Amino acid sequence: MLQAWPPVLFGGVEPLRAETDAGIALATVVYRSRAAHPFSPLELHRLTLAAQERNRGESVTGLLLYDSEQFFQWLEGPAESVHRVMRSIRNDPRHGGIEILHDQPATGRRFGGWNMRLAMPGIGPFPWPPEAIKAPNEMVQRLRERPEDAPGLLARLGPAIPAFERLPVDLQSASILDDVIRATVIPALLEGLAAAQGTEQLPAANPEAAHLASLLIASDPDAAFSLIRRVRIGERLLLPLYATLVEPAARSLGDLWSEDACSEFDVTLGLCRLQTAVRQLSTVPAGSHAKRFRTPQVLIAPEPGETHHLGAALDSEVLWHAGWTPHCAYPASDGDLQDLVAATWFDALDLSLSAAFGREHWLPRITDTIARARRASRNPALVVVVGGRAFTEGDAGVRSGADVTSRTALHIDHSILQGLHAKRTERARAH
Ligand SMILES: Cc1cc2nc3c(=O)[nH]c(=O)nc-3n(C[C@H](O)[C@H](O)[C@H](O)COP(=O)(O)O)c2cc1C
Repeated sequence: MLQAWPPVLFGGVEPLRAETDAGIALATVVYRSRAAHPFSPLELHRLTLAAQERNRGESVTGLLLYDSEQFFQWLEGPAESVHRVMRSIRNDPRHGGIEILHDQPATGRRFGGWNMRLAMPGIGPFPWPPEAIKAPNEMVQRLRERPEDAPGLLARLGPAIPAFERLPVDLQSASILDDVIRATVIPALLEGLAAAQGTEQLPAANPEAAHLASLLIASDPDAAFSLIRRVRIGERLLLPLYATLVEPAARSLGDLWSEDACSEFDVTLGLCRLQTAVRQLSTVPAGSHAKRFRTPQVLIAPEPGETHHLGAALDSEVLWHAGWTPHCAYPASDGDLQDLVAATWFDALDLSLSAAFGREHWLPRITDTIARARRASRNPALVVVVGGRAFTEGDAGVRSGADVTSRTALHIDHSILQGLHAKRTERARAH
């Protein structure tokens, strides 16, 4: 029978201040063990509560993950305390087959403030303690398959920490310069840019954009490519063309479809042709860009399941032109996207929906994708940017949980910098 959970038993987590560790030799131990029997929620709760009480006295912090068969535990704190607690844990008959996966001196804590937090797989067989953290099912699966990866995997479940503390010491001085640039230079540049560009304002569409849309779905696309080349010759700069011709043409394709003037396949075909044209116009050779300076690490990806990739292609082009080195990916599922942001540090995630269709009914889906990506992200302060026709008007971007709404690819670098700056300011205020 399922047991009702007594919520009154849950206490808050007392933060441990970093200065209490000054001058003390710290250690981290990670192990796994086999539960002697299936644990009920109440047993788990009692175990965690007793562990928390003793850990508090020993200044030990960490995480205990239970997956219905095995325990994975991360213990950290003064080396003597950690090993003393470990001796008790080894003698506990409630589990066995203890395998130490990591036992090393440590320079800091990953779970500071958590005297022992319980973690559980996303879907549990019984009502889990509400205060427990949810471990993604894919992570639990990986723990089972590759227990040696447990230290890296468990670390992802820890509380958010400022990006600076995650950097190796030799990179911290570079980060100070970066701080100065971000705190003083970028805001000044942004103010100037915002004044000059009026970024909320979409540039006026080229009057030929609607005609271009109909040429893009003709059996022979040559007329469409000729039109694009002709307009390009008349423009002094390439990038504004994305906002004045390419994006409006994509929207016109969506309009043709909603007026029943073309099929969904035609829209996809037209968008692919636009993408080809963008690549042909580009003056940045693919893959040959030399990295000249450190620019934000950006992952550009269409929303998993989105077959229209023009928005991602445009953002990528604009960032390459700006001298950035964006990473492009086409994740098939939310899980694939989560793996990407968990495996690599990204400053920003640029997620896009169709440039042609409004995709109104996709809002809950992208909202969920964003929430999951944030939880899985190696960077706890990941800036999420959304783009696509769904976001060109109204407040869908805000409702999706994104930090920044990109209304045109033209300003994507600016939008990302603004997002990074806002997040930095917000975190500085919170600390
Ligand atoms: C999976 C598992 C994890 C545990 N984690 C902790 C812990 O983090 N801290 C702790 O003090 N006790 C923990 N315990 C309980 C200890 O094994 C032990 O019962 C408790 O510390 C009392 O120790 P003592 O009998 O030596 O006084 C854990 C037990 C199990 C089965």
